[in-house]
Amino acid sequence: MGAAGQTTVALLLRGSKLYIRGMARNAPSSLERGRFGLILIRVGPGPESGHSRPDPIPENPPNQSTSNNRIRHGQRLHGKGLLICLVDWCKQASSLPIDGLGYSICCRLIDEFISTQPPSLTLHLIITTRDERKSHDTLSKLFAHLRQKSRELRDNLNSRVTIQSEQVDLTSLQSVHALSTHLRTTLPRLDVVFLNAGYGGLTGIKWLRAAWVIPTDLRYEITYPSYNVSAVGLTTKSQTSSRDEPALGTVFTSNVFGHYILVHLLCPLFTSASTAQRSGRVIWISSIEGYASTFTLGDMQGLAAESAYKSSKRLTDILILTSSRLSTRQYVSKFLGDDVSKSQKDEIDKREGCRPNMYLVHPGICATSFVPLPFLLYCCMVFTFYLARWLGSPWHTVSAYKGAAAPVWLALAPQKELDELEADGKSKWGSCVSRGGEESVMRTEVEGWGVRGQVEALAAKELRGRRRGVHELSMEEQERFEELGRECWQQLEGLRTEWAKRIGW
Ligand SMILES: NC(=O)c1ccc[n+]([C@@H]2O[C@H](COP(=O)([O-])OP(=O)(O)OC[C@H]3O[C@@H](n4cnc5c(N)ncnc54)[C@H](OP(=O)(O)O)[C@@H]3O)[C@@H](O)[C@H]2O)c1
Repeated sequence: MGAAGQTTVALLLRGSKLYIRGMARNAPSSLERGRFGLILIRVGPGPESGHSRPDPIPENPPNQSTSNNRIRHGQRLHGKGLLICLVDWCKQASSLPIDGLGYSICCRLIDEFISTQPPSLTLHLIITTRDERKSHDTLSKLFAHLRQKSRELRDNLNSRVTIQSEQVDLTSLQSVHALSTHLRTTLPRLDVVFLNAGYGGLTGIKWLRAAWVIPTDLRYEITYPSYNVSAVGLTTKSQTSSRDEPALGTVFTSNVFGHYILVHLLCPLFTSASTAQRSGRVIWISSIEGYASTFTLGDMQGLAAESAYKSSKRLTDILILTSSRLSTRQYVSKFLGDDVSKSQKDEIDKREGCRPNMYLVHPGICATSFVPLPFLLYCCMVFTFYLARWLGSPWHTVSAYKGAAAPVWLALAPQKELDELEADGKSKWGSCVSRGGEESVMRTEVEGWGVRGQVEALAAKELRGRRRGVHELSMEEQERFEELGRECWQQLEGLRTEWAKRIGW
């Protein structure tokens, strides 16, 4: 099935028109539509049950314990020919009719899967939220999206797309462990994981400053805001009953460490292209706000940082961009599978497991409920986002569906294409738009790394939207970044093993 699987992946992407900026070529991809948190997808032959006629898509998510859309305990999904994706978090946002990025990734993934895949293939999507109610609401909306698509295509898509929901709170390492155990006992493998959940820790806005800088410097201040106020020093609830337990930063654990532990624990589920449609992929969602000045190695958890959110996104950038360098190899290897228990090792061998490829991406700037605002202010925010786009900001994707363009492309692109694009060094891929709203994916400049870890002159389009004060990369800066990457990997691996011992995994 290896070769057939690969053919399938190629079919997924044929005929798409995505233009990857910074490259003198049209990249095949499915970037024309898009929106979603942790998702699991399967692509393959029809459902295991072998239904000749699919059940209708339910109006309401069925009871979780009996649902067809949840993997029943002990049930095995098909192995080969199946694409399984996990998206964490997935909120269909707040009281306002706003879609979060996780939800939008799911919708976009479904749309692109259906429009590009042969009908014989199926998709299994796993979404995570923090509680049952959010799972129920999100599933209802995703089913509605599927019904709508079914009506448009005059085809019952229930036979092609299955969705299950799970719960996890990333700030609880026990909860992360429980989810990984459940998935490892019920899934044949995992093809794509979107690490989307994110917590900003925003507490307010410096209104006077905002009232001055937004009208006088709109495009820049709406892209790199200088008026947000964040909580400092937030820590998670205790992870154990021990009194001398060290603190874990809430934002750090939500945005980086919870994901980090999850990926490590899910390692046995990642398999190679010979057993699946493709090698496993882990897609880390970052932000353009990970400025160099926001992160210091001495405060990796951002407990003293003015913005722990920006610090966590900078750390994400550093980790993933340096993850394929020789200097980080010993830590990355342990993280991605070498440092596992005997039983996990057996599991990996049994499934012909192999290390997943890790990718870094950001959605541009979308109007989600990430910054909680009352309705009127939310409308003002959307209006200023459009203004910034019309003034030439490439990053104002505005809708989360457009923001999902780059993450979904990374999930569906053929491995060969991604390998070629990252052959000279890893990139931070971003969803971007033209003034008229036409979507594309663009490499994003990262301070200390450039666009792919090379000292090189950037193309004019790669300089669009550059932050002030950022300059051409020098060799010394590139070397410092790589060394910082090695130190971050070392510290994080140290923290992981320390917590694994403390909790007793
Ligand atoms: N919106 C943008 O412009 C933008 C720009 C750059 C990057 N991003 C990134 O995109 C991702 C999604 O953001 P969004 O805009 O869609 O915001 P959002 O609507 O607030 O979604 C964030 C999701 O993360 C979940 N989450 C937070 N802490 C969690 C935890 N401890 N455990 C489990 N789930 C947790 C939230 O769950 P609850 O529903 O339970 O709160 C929420 O569903 C984030 O990583 C964010 O940093 C967004």
